[in-house]
Amino acid sequence: MSALTELYEQIELCRDCELGKHRNRAVPGEGPEKATLLFIGEAPGWYEDQQGRPFVGPAGQYLEELLASISLKRDQVYIANVIKCRPPGNRDPLPAEIQTCSKWLNHQIDLIRPKMIVTLGRYSMARYFPNQTISKVHGKAKKQDNIIYYAMYHPAAALHQGSLRKVIEADMLTIPQILAQAEKLNEAEAEPQQLSLF
Ligand code: URA
Repeated sequence: MSALTELYEQIELCRDCELGKHRNRAVPGEGPEKATLLFIGEAPGWYEDQQGRPFVGPAGQYLEELLASISLKRDQVYIANVIKCRPPGNRDPLPAEIQTCSKWLNHQIDLIRPKMIVTLGRYSMARYFPNQTISKVHGKAKKQDNIIYYAMYHPAAALHQGSLRKVIEADMLTIPQILAQAEKLNEAEAEPQQLSLF
C-alpha cells in the first residue's frame, strides 16, 4: 500500500473535530501520486460528501472545463481541499477546523511534492498568501521552497458571479506559461525566489 493510500485510510478514520462525527464520507483528495499540479479547494460539499471524492458537483464540472482549456483531464492533476469533511449546510470552515485538519493536507503535499500548487478560493489562498485578498492576488505566482504557488478564484464563485468567469478562465490559461517559465529557469539553473509574474 502506498503512503498516500495509507494516509487516505487515516483521514477516513479521523474524528478530530465535530465535522468528522457528522460527515457521510471523508473526502481525502484524489489524483496521481506524483502530480505536477495540485489544486486545493475549500471543503467538500453535498455531492462530495456523498461520493467521498473532491469536486464532483457543479463546481467540479466547471473545474473540469477549466482544465480542458489547458488540455488537461482531471485525472492528470491532484485535487484536494483545505478540510476533508463537509461543514453542515455548506457553511464556511471554522478556523479551528482548518487548523485541526491542516496536518492531512500538509502530509499529502509532502508525499506528492507537486511542482505547482493552485489555490481555489479564499481558504486555500490564505495558507500561502496570508493577509492578501483574492481580488489582488489571483493570477499571480510566487516560488517558495521549490514549489510555485498560484492563486485563483474558486470555480463556484465564478459560477455564481458571471463577471468572474472571464477572470478565472484567463487565470487558468496562464498556468502552462508559468510552468514553462519555471522549467526554463530550472534549465538555466537559476533559483529565483520570485517569478516575474508575481
Ligand atoms: N468546493 C470545494 O471547495 N471543494 C470541493 O470538493 C467541492 C466544492
